[in-house]
Amino acid sequence: MFSVHSIAAALLCVSTLFPRATLSIPAKNHPTTVNLRIEGADKTIYEGPIFTIGHNVTTVYGDSHHCDGTNNNENEFPGPTCTSALDDASKKKGFQWDGTFFDEFDDYFVTSIGDSTETDSQFWGILLNFQFTPVGGCQQEVNAGDHILWAFDAFNAQHFLKLEGPKKAKRGVPTNFTVTDGMTGEAVEGATVNGVTSNAGGVVRIALGKKGLHGLKATLDGSIRSNQVQVEVY
Ligand SMILES: *[C@@H]1O[C@H](CO)[C@@H](O)[C@H](O)[C@H]1NC(C)=O
Ligand SMILES: *[C@@H]1O[C@H](CO)[C@@H](O)[C@H](O)[C@H]1NC(C)=O
Repeated sequence: MFSVHSIAAALLCVSTLFPRATLSIPAKNHPTTVNLRIEGADKTIYEGPIFTIGHNVTTVYGDSHHCDGTNNNENEFPGPTCTSALDDASKKKGFQWDGTFFDEFDDYFVTSIGDSTETDSQFWGILLNFQFTPVGGCQQEVNAGDHILWAFDAFNAQHFLKLEGPKKAKRGVPTNFTVTDGMTGEAVEGATVNGVTSNAGGVVRIALGKKGLHGLKATLDGSIRSNQVQVEVY
């Protein structure tokens, strides 16, 4: 039987993980696991699942505001957002993010994540399931399993690379991986995966020589590097 106490205990558990969550969590704003990827100027800053809930966030600069989808009245009910996921990942992995809060949008414009800081012409962009979000990161709510991508220099990117391939491959046997643009679904030629270049069909044929788990990513100058495909070589 659920007692008030066991519910309170369960919520306390949640509030231990998310210190800023209050005990009166509305139905929709529960901790949710999303897939988060943060592609910095020179390297991947975060890639993997993150447990997130809408909460108040504080930048390096010290600005603290709500970040639960109700920003600018974008959603009626609070929930996890693109920026709450960024904030939770920064705490989990120990990197910092900063941003400028604009009252007129009731949202942050993120200026730096890790050591990748915006310039006069390069800005951070947010994509949800490979499409630019129409609103800011504290306004954009997310659902379980969503793919959130924070990409440095997003607005100049030619492609948002997406890599697909098998989870297992036999040692020394050429295996096909495919590079596409996640936004358009089109094959991307000329991208590099493990030193091999993709052909016109986006195919990269790789023979991996070492047994064990390999993490492969596609890169291409002027494009946002891909997700990592983990392949077990046996
Ligand atoms: C969260 O931020 C909002 C303003 O953005 C403020 O009104 C509220 O008091 C804050 N809540 C907590 C728990 O700090
Ligand atoms: C692998 O890619 C090559 C080159 O695109 C293609 O000719 C071949 O049919 C592919 N093999 C498989 C098993 O899909």
